[in-house]
Amino acid sequence: MSPVSPVPRSLPHPLLVCPVCSSALAEGDRSLACALGHRFDAARQGYYNLLTGKGTPFESDTADMVDARERFLGSGAYDPLRRAVVRAVRGRTADPAVALDAGAGTGYYLEGLVAEAPACYPVALDLSKMALRRAARRLPGGISLVWDVWRRLPLADASVDVLLNVFAPRNPGEFVRILAPGGCLVVVTPRPGHLAGLEAVGPLLSVPAHKADDVLASFEGALVETGREDLDYAMSLPRDLARSALVMGPAARHARAEDAAEVAEAAGAAPLEVAARFTVQVLARP
Ligand SMILES: C[S@@+](CC[C@H](N)C(=O)[O-])C[C@H]1O[C@@H](n2cnc3c(N)ncnc32)[C@H](O)[C@@H]1O
Ligand SMILES: [Zn+2]
Repeated sequence: MSPVSPVPRSLPHPLLVCPVCSSALAEGDRSLACALGHRFDAARQGYYNLLTGKGTPFESDTADMVDARERFLGSGAYDPLRRAVVRAVRGRTADPAVALDAGAGTGYYLEGLVAEAPACYPVALDLSKMALRRAARRLPGGISLVWDVWRRLPLADASVDVLLNVFAPRNPGEFVRILAPGGCLVVVTPRPGHLAGLEAVGPLLSVPAHKADDVLASFEGALVETGREDLDYAMSLPRDLARSALVMGPAARHARAEDAAEVAEAAGAAPLEVAARFTVQVLARP
């Protein structure tokens, strides 16, 4: 994938709304402000924290998890998935103006989309500042926002052409509200057997069946499924990447993965054959 354009572009207007008073947010010199004087300055690393003072009961990804995800994604192991996401978007909307990734992590999937649709303005939203530092670097032509997906999203009604949601929480009511007419939501979920083969480096959480059906049902008919692709492939992972695959995921919170010393000891061991099993779903208004 070619790198994204380094040219910063201005915020499409109206796109963002003030999380305090819901009036439009405009971009100034490294700040966002509304007409009533609520103002949010960019962090040194380029993202905006709109959650100031609010806090949130939800756990965001830790620095270790984010580092592991960057190493893992940097290996190209999920490139087939990123290509499938971009394909799903392009099959529905040739030239999206705004793409929001809710639970964007480090911005990997938006980066892939912008490489193919350079006119698209990317918005990365996540709870994790650690992840958004990377996203802000990856997406210099867009914006990265610290926000909690479970709250009212700081985006105008019908303002988003493409909404991505990759292994991240969903807020169906808000997703429907911000989706533009003719827009689409692309959701990626794992299927049972995803990451099978990793047991050799640590315990796996089991993936429930029918996740994609549950996603569709959660929209209660407000969005319908217009496409679904099951994507299966095998990854050959050296031990250090296998460990990253565990540490970057939810299993890391529940059990200890093989530690660095054990990985070094096993460095000469053969790569692990690990399964990748995803569903890529496209949803849109009926
Ligand atoms: C498994 S990671 C996936 C990240 C990214 N989509 C990817 O695949 O590389 C889940 C992401 O959701 C974020 N997240 C979890 N709860 C959230 C919430 N309530 N609001 C916004 N983001 C949240 C985490 O910080 C994390 O970056
Ligand atoms: Zn305001």
